[in-house]
Amino acid sequence: MTEKTINTRVREYAYDELDAEDRQLVEIAREATRGSYAPYSHFHVGVALLLDNGQIIKGANQENAAFGAGTCGERSALYNAAANYPDNAVIKLAVTAFHNGDIVPEPCAPCGVCRQAMIEFETKSHKPMKVLLVGRDRVLALDSCHDLLPLAFDEF
Ligand code: THU
Repeated sequence: MTEKTINTRVREYAYDELDAEDRQLVEIAREATRGSYAPYSHFHVGVALLLDNGQIIKGANQENAAFGAGTCGERSALYNAAANYPDNAVIKLAVTAFHNGDIVPEPCAPCGVCRQAMIEFETKSHKPMKVLLVGRDRVLALDSCHDLLPLAFDEF
């Protein structure tokens, strides 16, 4: 038997420590919550992606009375990017959320399904996707989706 430890490197920033590119992406993710449709959870998720051509794509969660028909903000943004810019890599993703009108206190982290989807985008583009998780007072930054989902399923 061999025991291994898997480490995850996470950097924590105050807003004013972010560089201009990250701050802009965080702002656009916040704006993207306007596109959220969340009449059931009242949890409005906004996502902004930066593509390797400089394009920024927004996404937001979309709920449905048949709950399983809804989708998360992360996948809304990623599938929008894939459909419209199939040849471009997503090199950065920022996710933010408001609950009942207030930005969530803790950095908003993607659900497990979105983590799996994010990893496949990273795998197919052969470029790391940086991730910014935005909370009221701080932002967590990771260098790759794999840091969010160690031992992910991957058939490639
Ligand atoms: N949600 C997201 O959009 N992203 C996540 O990673 C977690 C959850 C959405 C789904 C649902 O519309 C609402 O947040 C509450 O779960």
